[in-house]
Amino acid sequence: MENQDNQPTIPQPLVSEESLSPEERARRRFVGWLLGIVGAVVGVLLCIPLVRMALYPLFAKSGRAGWSDLGDANQYASLSTPERRVIQIQDVDGWRQTISEKVVYVTKGPNGKLRVLTAVCPHLGCEVAWDSSLNKFKCPCHGGTFAPDGKYLSGPPPRGMDTLPVDIQNGRLMVRYEYFRNLVPNKEVIG
Ligand code: FES
Repeated sequence: MENQDNQPTIPQPLVSEESLSPEERARRRFVGWLLGIVGAVVGVLLCIPLVRMALYPLFAKSGRAGWSDLGDANQYASLSTPERRVIQIQDVDGWRQTISEKVVYVTKGPNGKLRVLTAVCPHLGCEVAWDSSLNKFKCPCHGGTFAPDGKYLSGPPPRGMDTLPVDIQNGRLMVRYEYFRNLVPNKEVIG
C-alpha cells in the first residue's frame, strides 16, 4: 500500500506495546513464556524415542532370545539312542536379529535324566553325527568319537560334547542354545 506521496506505508501493529497496560504486557509475556516451555517439552518428548533408538545397540544385550521347544517330554521317556532335533534360534546383536537353525541331540545322561547336546564338535566346530551302526557319535572332520551321552571317547576333540541348559515347562522339554569355546579341555560358554 502507498500513501499520497507514493511512499510505501509501514504496517503498524494493531495494538502497540506502549499502549498496553502493565498488566496486559505481563500477561502477554507470561503467555509467551508458557508457549515456549510447552514447545520445549513437546520437542524433548518427541526426541526421546529417536535418542533411545540411536543408543539401543550400546545398551542392548547381545545373545539369543529364550528357550526352544523340543516337544512333549514324555515322548523321550523310553529313549534308548540319541535323537536328532533341529531348533531355530534368534540371535540378537544390536539392531540385527537373525534366525538360524541348530542341530541338537536329545539323549540320556548316566543317571537316566534327559540331556541335550549341541552337535558342534568341541575340536574345530564340525557337526557331529550319531552313527547307529557304531552306537556312538562320530565327527566327520577328524574322526573324533563320543559315547551316546556325549562323553569323549577318542580322537582330537579336547573334551566331550557340550550339554545345553534344559528345563521341563508345562510338560515340554525346553532347551536354551549356547555356544562354547573350541579347543579347550573344559566347557566354556562364549555366547
Ligand atoms: S572338528 Fe570334530 S574332530 Fe575335528
